[in-house]
Amino acid sequence: MIYLGADHGGYTLKEEIKAYLTEQEIPFVDCGTDSKDSVDYAPIAQKTCLKMLADPDKASRAVLCCGTGIGISMAANKIHGIRAACCSDYFAAKYTRLHNDANVLCLGGRVVGAGLACELVDVFLHTDFEGGRHQRRIDQIAALENGEDLNRA
Ligand code: RB5
Repeated sequence: MIYLGADHGGYTLKEEIKAYLTEQEIPFVDCGTDSKDSVDYAPIAQKTCLKMLADPDKASRAVLCCGTGIGISMAANKIHGIRAACCSDYFAAKYTRLHNDANVLCLGGRVVGAGLACELVDVFLHTDFEGGRHQRRIDQIAALENGEDLNRA
């Protein structure tokens, strides 16, 4: 399942991504917001990410949109288990899956147009994590979440 969330700055892009996912017959859950009225991005990030994390399907993903994609990615990355990547180019959207096993894609509604955004969503959803040496690095990120000292002797 794909979980979508946006503040007012990302609302229009979210709606365009919904149209794309519908066309592709990819199921999604819209976690708001539902209009262009001003709304804070951190609660939207939290609601969307917690729903994604509660989904028993570990292949579930989230796509979050705000004006820049940055604020909502910062908020999402404060949530345990979230690896959110703010992307505005194809290479980054692909490699954040291959190398970072990102589970949340963040997009800027004032940065990328709908055509590029849908390409980014597409490659993000259809690229698998490479594992191998990258798994060690993902484990280190998880250890940071748990307050572990990565530089201990
Ligand atoms: C809202 O105006 C804007 O600050 C927000 O959408 C986002 O761009 C923050 O990072």
